[in-house]
Amino acid sequence: MVAQAIPKPENLMVLANSIQSSAQALTDYWKKNGLQQPSFDANSPKTLFPPGTDPAVIAVQHELLSAAEKLRVLAHGPADYLQIHLLGFLELAAVRYIHYYKIASFVPLPTPEAPPGIDVPTISYEDLAAKASAAGYPVVTADLKRMVRACASSMIFCEPVPGHVAHTASSAQMITSPEMQAMLCVAVEENLPAVEKTLEAIEKFGPDAQEPWQTAYGLAFDTKGQGFYTYLTSQGPERVARFSLAMKAANDNTGYGTKSVADAFDWARLGKAKFVDVGGSRGHNSFAIAKKNPDLTFVVQDLESVIEEANATVVPSLPSDLANRVSFQAYDFLQEDQPVQDADVYFFSMILHNWPDKYAAKILKKTVDAMKPGAQIFILDSMVPEPGRIPLGQEKVLRCLDLAMKNLQNARERDAQDWEGLFAQADPRLKLDKVYTLPGSVLSLTCLSLEA
Ligand SMILES: C[S@@+](CC[C@H](N)C(=O)[O-])C[C@H]1O[C@@H](n2cnc3c(N)ncnc32)[C@H](O)[C@@H]1O
Repeated sequence: MVAQAIPKPENLMVLANSIQSSAQALTDYWKKNGLQQPSFDANSPKTLFPPGTDPAVIAVQHELLSAAEKLRVLAHGPADYLQIHLLGFLELAAVRYIHYYKIASFVPLPTPEAPPGIDVPTISYEDLAAKASAAGYPVVTADLKRMVRACASSMIFCEPVPGHVAHTASSAQMITSPEMQAMLCVAVEENLPAVEKTLEAIEKFGPDAQEPWQTAYGLAFDTKGQGFYTYLTSQGPERVARFSLAMKAANDNTGYGTKSVADAFDWARLGKAKFVDVGGSRGHNSFAIAKKNPDLTFVVQDLESVIEEANATVVPSLPSDLANRVSFQAYDFLQEDQPVQDADVYFFSMILHNWPDKYAAKILKKTVDAMKPGAQIFILDSMVPEPGRIPLGQEKVLRCLDLAMKNLQNARERDAQDWEGLFAQADPRLKLDKVYTLPGSVLSLTCLSLEA
């Protein structure tokens, strides 16, 4: 029997005191730095902490979230909590409705300069239904009311005047943030249909299926032998662009974001180095590192459709310094040999967790075959800790993404042992040099080299 860590006593008062002290520390931090405190107001800033915030402050936020969640569970009591948790699934029907019929876009936003809570613009359910109907959606007042009110029970929309809807901070994001819009689309239109097929896929393809198409997603969309990415690409540039934008939203998220990648390692130490960002999407990680490290040059590689989209939308607006140092290249890491053989760094951010071992090993092997002496591989991905070792909210993100990986591609979030097994399978000469933690993120940066 494996020894278990003894959990700290956590009762209502212990948790409430912890919440009190974390909330006070954060409030002091926001006041001292002249930042807005969190509120439900539609004009609230999108995130609570500016880039570069001290990780110790983010850690306090996580303590607050963990304690608040545990307090909520205890305050419900076991049976009541389980029931509330299960009822939460039903809310997805309302989120789906709001999304498909673009309800958030018909609710007025306050002007950006409007003071919080004063003259909040509202719309009656009747007028809201009329606007949505005029746009061609089958929306009637009775349905609309129940859907909006279900969301409002999670602080997404509110009803400041009975019968009249207004935006909250979170519902406003559905309008003001293109990234969050894309994230909502991916959640509702890609992930949700797959979730319903998880068991069916296990029964049909077996619990150890290793092909990226033998999945819940494959069944939900009848992908005809194509994995998630190949299928998505076959569906045209809009769907690919939407997914890339949603990835940017994930990247902006403090818990699962890669945006602190520039600070995770002393990249300047590499000198005048060439950096290949494999599966780099629209190049956001390369840009973040490039801005702070003028000696580095970058090749961002991705599927042809993604690169075409990046060339059309990202490249034309790049400042000349970045345009001169960051180029884009179409490269399929499963089908082709790595074309860049003089690089110093091959960087994989959020790539290998998308692939079952069989394919992740193949991707790494193609990299090893291209590496010049002294070149390194950097992997930015999760290294899943034992349960209960990270804050509850962060653990929830990792565990849910692990499920998403299984549903989309038969892939997974790996722990230290999984990674070791993968490296050995790809090439026994691969040597793990160091694992760096990313400030404020659940991700790790793993550095590998090739033993002579
Ligand atoms: C989860 S996203 C990660 C994007 C980016 N590296 C990041 O950290 O945000 C996975 C990326 O892998 C790309 N991809 C999927 N299959 C690929 C393939 N066969 N060859 C090259 N890129 C691929 C996708 O287009 C997507 O941009």
